[in-house]
Amino acid sequence: MKFLARGKRSEVFLISKNRVIKKKRKDSDALGTIEREFEVLKKLNKVDIGPKVFKWDNGIVMEYVKGERIKDYLAKSSRGEILKVISNVIKQCRKLDTMGLNKEEMVNPYKHIIVGKKVVMIDFERCKQSKKPGNLTQFTSFLMRKDTSKLLAKKGIFAVPWRLQKLAKKYKHNQNIENYTAVYNEIMQKNTTAKIYYACFKVPKGKVTSYKALGNAAGIKGYRAVGQAMNKNPFAPIVPCHRVINVDGKLGGFATGVKNKIKLLESEGIKIKDRKVYINNF
Ligand SMILES: Nc1ncnc2c1ncn2[C@@H]1O[C@H](COP(=O)(O)OP(=O)(O)O)[C@@H](O)[C@H]1O
Ligand SMILES: [Mg+2]
Repeated sequence: MKFLARGKRSEVFLISKNRVIKKKRKDSDALGTIEREFEVLKKLNKVDIGPKVFKWDNGIVMEYVKGERIKDYLAKSSRGEILKVISNVIKQCRKLDTMGLNKEEMVNPYKHIIVGKKVVMIDFERCKQSKKPGNLTQFTSFLMRKDTSKLLAKKGIFAVPWRLQKLAKKYKHNQNIENYTAVYNEIMQKNTTAKIYYACFKVPKGKVTSYKALGNAAGIKGYRAVGQAMNKNPFAPIVPCHRVINVDGKLGGFATGVKNKIKLLESEGIKIKDRKVYINNF
């Protein structure tokens, strides 16, 4: 039996290539928590959540989950890969919510979600029955946290905090399918604002684009929404809103003043004359 890891209240040992055992630490006074986790896991296995449990043997004998911790995975993966994993986690959170179970610790799930061939949540020690489970809302908070939000933005995934917060709050109070779908779609970048930011994100240094072009890329006709999104851009400079100008080459507005916009554009090699950009920069 090889020592694998030490948790808050337990120790985990490798007992074969594919199996571990989670045992109570001798110095832990928590009574019955691992026994309870064993029962919870058996229930959750039926809906494909958690490591597969095999038996109780003075500890939980379960599947050895191989993979990376979610934060490490997010840092090294592509936009598409990340969205797939996030979608998977959201669906697991939703299942837990509908089962009336609160896993806890989803605001800081670094050690709790392992991404390998499958996406597996571990450590259900604190999982309890609850009338208002907060699995999805907690995971949403994790996505909105400054560090996570920045990491995701660098990959082209934009979770606008005030929009997501509003939807998450609505879901928290009424966990119906509509409110769930709204949160899901928002995180999965199906909303116009995220599409606008993504289109802008792809404009490289030394180039400009227009409000109109971003609107088109996001599938909307008007460009007022684009102007608003740029004006309130929480992702600068990852979303380079200074590279967005009018279709006729005029500079358009800028949240911190047009002077700053000119400065930024010139520093990137864009030629500006009479408050206009030469169109061949498009
Ligand atoms: N099924 C498993 N497969 C692989 N690693 C595991 C598994 N269960 C636990 N671990 C490892 O052991 C550590 C501690 O386990 P955990 O369930 O978090 O214990 P505790 O409830 O005491 O916090 C985890 O962070 C993880 O690294
Ligand atoms: Mg733990």
